[in-house]
Amino acid sequence: MGCFWLFVLCLFSPAGANFTELTGMFGQIQSPNYPEGYPSDLDLTWNITVPTGFRIKLYFMHFDLEPSYLCEYDYVKVVSDDLLETFCGRESTDTERIPGQEFVLTKSNTMTVTFKTDFSNEERFTGFEAHYSAIDIDECVEKLDEALVCDHFCHNFIGGFYCSCRFSYILHSDNRTCKVECRDNVFTEKSGTISSPDYPNSYPKSSDCLYRIELEEGFTISLEFADIFDLEDHPDVPCPYDYLKIKAGINEFGPYCGDKSPGKVNTNSSSIHITFHSDDSGDNQGWKLTFTSVGNPCPVVHPPANGTIEPVQEQYSFKDQVQIRCNTGFKFVKGGDEVEAYQIECQKSGTWSSSIPTCKVIDCGTPRPLEDGFITFHSTDNRTLFGSHIEYSCHAIYYRMETELNTTYTCMENGFWVNDELGTDLPTCQPVCGKPRIKPSSIQPKIAQGRAVSKGALPWITMLSKNGIPFCGGSLIGQKWIITAAHCLHPPYDPDNPNLSNFQHINVTSFKVILGRQKTLRKEETEQVFRAKRIISHPCYNGSTFEFDIALLELPHKVTITDYVMPICLPENSFSTLRTDDMVIVSGWGKQFLHSIPETLMEIEIPIVDHDKCKNVYSQLGRQVTDDMICAGLKQGGSDACQGDSGGPMVALDNETNRWFLVGTVSWGDGCGEDNRYGVYSDVRKSLEWIHNVTKVKNF
Ligand code: ARG
Repeated sequence: MGCFWLFVLCLFSPAGANFTELTGMFGQIQSPNYPEGYPSDLDLTWNITVPTGFRIKLYFMHFDLEPSYLCEYDYVKVVSDDLLETFCGRESTDTERIPGQEFVLTKSNTMTVTFKTDFSNEERFTGFEAHYSAIDIDECVEKLDEALVCDHFCHNFIGGFYCSCRFSYILHSDNRTCKVECRDNVFTEKSGTISSPDYPNSYPKSSDCLYRIELEEGFTISLEFADIFDLEDHPDVPCPYDYLKIKAGINEFGPYCGDKSPGKVNTNSSSIHITFHSDDSGDNQGWKLTFTSVGNPCPVVHPPANGTIEPVQEQYSFKDQVQIRCNTGFKFVKGGDEVEAYQIECQKSGTWSSSIPTCKVIDCGTPRPLEDGFITFHSTDNRTLFGSHIEYSCHAIYYRMETELNTTYTCMENGFWVNDELGTDLPTCQPVCGKPRIKPSSIQPKIAQGRAVSKGALPWITMLSKNGIPFCGGSLIGQKWIITAAHCLHPPYDPDNPNLSNFQHINVTSFKVILGRQKTLRKEETEQVFRAKRIISHPCYNGSTFEFDIALLELPHKVTITDYVMPICLPENSFSTLRTDDMVIVSGWGKQFLHSIPETLMEIEIPIVDHDKCKNVYSQLGRQVTDDMICAGLKQGGSDACQGDSGGPMVALDNETNRWFLVGTVSWGDGCGEDNRYGVYSDVRKSLEWIHNVTKVKNF
């Protein structure tokens, strides 16, 4: 068997060396001459190496060595890392051990097997045969090297392993620890909470977090750490591993670590940076903080006199806004403007955006004057301030207020004088109609035999005068309208050219309109002279038949109402009753029985004549008395209007109101004052609607 021995020697150690390197994934080793007895004085070593990530399993299929106390003669020794197995003998005893059915398992990927024999046992024992194989290490389960353990998840594969991390973590470049990306945390709210990732569970390793709180200048931030505070620390060196640092402007706080909460930290800054560092080991709960901020304080605001502020607080700070209002009836005066409400804001410097203005009482100012009226102040000192009352009235006697509502106006908070019904509109004063101040002197005679009218007794009478001589009469209605006869203002009827008399009228500049006059040819102090502004004839005026012989003259401005100049009332509803034989007064400066003109205004008093009777009289003469006409006069004649009286008023006294109203305007007749003839007048009632439309005049 020497040959076999040699063969084994040659195979393993051709130069006489006794080392054999084995690198396969599996293999076999055996004692020389196996299964024959092994030689003496052997010292053989097999170095088995398998790839990293594997371990070696060694199994003895046969084992038969010389037994000796503590294997001091022959033995097989297996070494790997701290593993040391020594086998010898034929069976395990107190002092010897054989591998038996067990296998030897290394922790690492190398194994050294040494076989030693002494000098005296040649061929008495058969030796050993063993088989080895590489088997995978499950690093995830075995955790051989504490430093190489995966932080979160471990994945084994044949020959190695790899680590992965939970969601939102990333694997550190050491391929083991899981860190977080936490450098971009910016907080701009005035308060909030910040904590280490996963707080109060272990925070990530190998991480550098940055948290920034950025508020507007003017705020200061305070931090309050939660009680659970736990960062890896060191008994001697301040925070060498994990730490938290706070930078607030030029101030720095920390580093903080250990398990004692830093509690409250007043940073006195509006911008702070919190850095949190963790190293690659440790298992600590981390930290949590609440941040709050307060603005720089501003001085306490007090409401202005006669004003209020909102909100009322004991202290105010940056960004706080305060609304300032004046009490009702008061206003701010700011650069000449009146301002309703006012807002100030606490600025970062700790001052208010502007000073508190003063509240000034509202002044409605002098109330607008009332035409033909006057103002009464309710206060003795003519106050025009908020809450003051005034009252408008019309000048008594001549004027009456258009409205019967109360005309008290109050100075309101909007700065206007306001009436409950009319708002800011003023009432209007209208002249009283049909009420002469001067009573007529008593007793007859007539126009054609009329009587002279005392000055001012018929204050509505109007003279139309050309070259100083009256040619027609008229009546004042309202304050700027005269009613007269259309034929006074149109060319005489021309059968060859009928349109001329109907549609063309004389020039307004060719005559004067005179009020307040009594004398026929002499100027008087009481008179008011106008040029008409406009002539408006009744649209149905017929120059040939004298139908609707009525016209209106508009004055350029209002007349002044005096004892001598006053309007006549229109025959509105309250005046509408007029019957045959009712007495009327006709007045004018017309001719007396077709010859001389009188020295002063004359009047006659005559009865209304039945319409049919008048119609019959004139139809016999071939002239038509139409429905828009009304007749008056005496059957025996005598009292009648005459040339020059045209357009003048025929008036009647309303017994109920004791006011005079206009019945008709002098229009035509056959001769003057002859018997069985009557004067014909345009019936004002028939033209009332047209008058209203044109003049808007109503009785007052
Ligand atoms: N047409 C006359 C005039 O121009 C007035 C006629 C009145 N005559 C009469 N008898 N009532 O003045």
